[in-house]
Parts: sequence; structure tokens; C-alpha cells
Amino acid sequence: MASTDINSSSSAVTPTPVSRKSRWSLAGMTALVTGGTRGIGRAVVEELAELGAAVYTCSRNEEELKQRLEEWKVRGFDVGGCVCDASSVAHREELFRRVSSCFGGKLNILINNVGTNIRKGTAEYTAEEYSKIMTTNLESSYHACQLAYPLLKASGSGSLVFISSVAGLVHVGSGSIYGASKGAINQLTKNLACEWAKDNIRTNCVAPWYIRTSLVEHLLENKTFLDHVVSRTPLRRPGESEEVSSLVAYLCMPAASYITGQIISVDGGFTVNSFDGVV
Ligand SMILES: NC(=O)c1ccc[n+]([C@@H]2O[C@H](COP(=O)([O-])OP(=O)(O)OC[C@H]3O[C@@H](n4cnc5c(N)ncnc54)[C@H](OP(=O)(O)O)[C@@H]3O)[C@@H](O)[C@H]2O)c1
Repeated sequence: MASTDINSSSSAVTPTPVSRKSRWSLAGMTALVTGGTRGIGRAVVEELAELGAAVYTCSRNEEELKQRLEEWKVRGFDVGGCVCDASSVAHREELFRRVSSCFGGKLNILINNVGTNIRKGTAEYTAEEYSKIMTTNLESSYHACQLAYPLLKASGSGSLVFISSVAGLVHVGSGSIYGASKGAINQLTKNLACEWAKDNIRTNCVAPWYIRTSLVEHLLENKTFLDHVVSRTPLRRPGESEEVSSLVAYLCMPAASYITGQIISVDGGFTVNSFDGVV
């Protein structure tokens, strides 16, 4: 009797070995980064473009977008973009029409970066505030994944990265709706990693702690608040956007080809820091 081939039922294809140079490069890849004109999104656009990807991005402020696109052109980066409110269904559909046409119906990388917050106690939120945070943070990312799926699949090698938050892992006092929206993204990362692995689409999530951007600069300008953040952070400082974008870029590279379904904190050690017993 012939012995059973344990690999015979597997449809997975083992990647062919490639050189170190191409494993640590994004050359020839295409990417969409939502919300790329400031903060973490901007750093991600620049990181991916510098590593060789052709990038498309979007934001709501047309003037700022034009300015960034000019700056990137001068720096020799291949970046296109359009005005889009990621919280609008119609805008998202138009964004993906443009991305599909720009990249010939294929996309290697989707970075779901857009996010917003309103800080309040749970009892004080209005229904409109709940809807704004959930729509911007969760629904927009979810729908973007649906719209991106055929393009990621067509590329033959897709990578999805969510920008979540440590607020989706632990309570950080930034508001329960924001925490719930980011917690849902963390779970969605695991669902899509398993569901779309068959299409060679990897899904990962980066969860930052305080990063110096326009979203939180008003908080970090408050010395008492900043001291509190620093006191709970083993590396004793907030992070910079480039410290997030480097991980995002790595997760998109062939070098990360066996990494999927992971939520990785970029937090100076915040989430592993419980009680410091040193007196
Ligand atoms: N900074 C932090 O400490 C921190 C910590 C944890 C997680 N995060 C997460 O990281 C992500 C990026 O945050 P950030 O701090 O870099 O924010 P940011 O400095 O406010 O930058 C946000 C970027 O997204 C764009 N954007 C915002 N809302 C948009 C919308 N509805 N449609 C299209 N573009 C939109 C903004 O441009 P326009 O305003 O012109 O649209 C801008 O380019 C968010 O998901 C956030 O929750 C941040």
C-alpha cells in the first residue's frame, strides 16, 4: 500500500527562496495608505515609498494633500493621492476605483491608518459621537478591506496592516468607544489572517501607545499629562511616527512572509509594565 503523502491535501505554496536584498525591499510593490498627510500615516507613506513601493494615499484637506504630494515628488517618491473622507461609503468606493485604475487592478499593501477620537466618560457620549468614532475607526477599515480584497488577491501577495492602539488591549482612559473600536480591529486582524491566508494575504496590526502627532499633541503639551505618560512607560518617553512606520514597512516585506494575525505594540514597554516594586 502506498504511504500517505502528508502534503497532498495542502494547497499552500512554499515561497521560493529569494535574495536577502529583495526580502528586505518593497521594490515593485503597490500600496494604499489611508490618512497619509500627517502623523503616523505620513511616516508610513514615506517609509514605504523610500523602500521602493508605489504608494497612493488620501486625506480630507486638499491643500495639505497637494503640499505633501509636491514634497514627495521633489524627494523622488512615487506617491499619488486624492481627497477622500474615509468615513464616507461613497468616498471609499471612489478611492478604490482610483486605486484600482492607478495600479492596474492589483494592490500588494493596504494600510488602514485613519482614526479619530473624542475623549469623554462613557455616560456622556451622544449617539452621534458613538457613530462618528465607530464609522471612522472600524466601519471605514472594514469596508476598505472588503474593497481591497479583490485587488490584494489579484496581486498574488497581499499584506494588510491595521493601525490599532494599545487602547484596544488595555484601559488607557482615552474613551470607551475608541477602545472598543480598536479592540474590534485587533480581533478583525485575527479573523482576516485566517480567512484570507488561502489567497496569500497576510493581515497584521500595529498598536501604538502615545506617538507625537497632531491627534494627541494637545494632550502631550500638558506637562502633568506628559509626565504621567512617561512615568508609565519603561522607555520614559512618547514614541515618534517613524518608530511605528518602520514596523509597518517590515510587516509588508517578503522578510515577514510567515507573520500573520499578529497585534504588535509599539509602546516603549507600556503594555508589559504593571507594578514597579522597586522602592
Ligand atoms: N498618535 C497616537 O498617539 C496614536 C496612538 C495609538 C493609535 N493611533 C492611531 O494611529 C492612527 C493615525 O493617528 P495619528 O496620530 O497619526 O493621527 P493624525 O496626526 O491626526 O493624522 C491623521 C491623518 O489621517 C487623515 N484623516 C483623518 N481622518 C480622516 C478621514 N476621515 N478620511 C481621510 N483621512 C483622514 C488626516 O488628514 P485630514 O485631517 O486632512 O483628513 C491625517 O493625514 C489612528 O488610527 C490613531 O487612532 C495614534
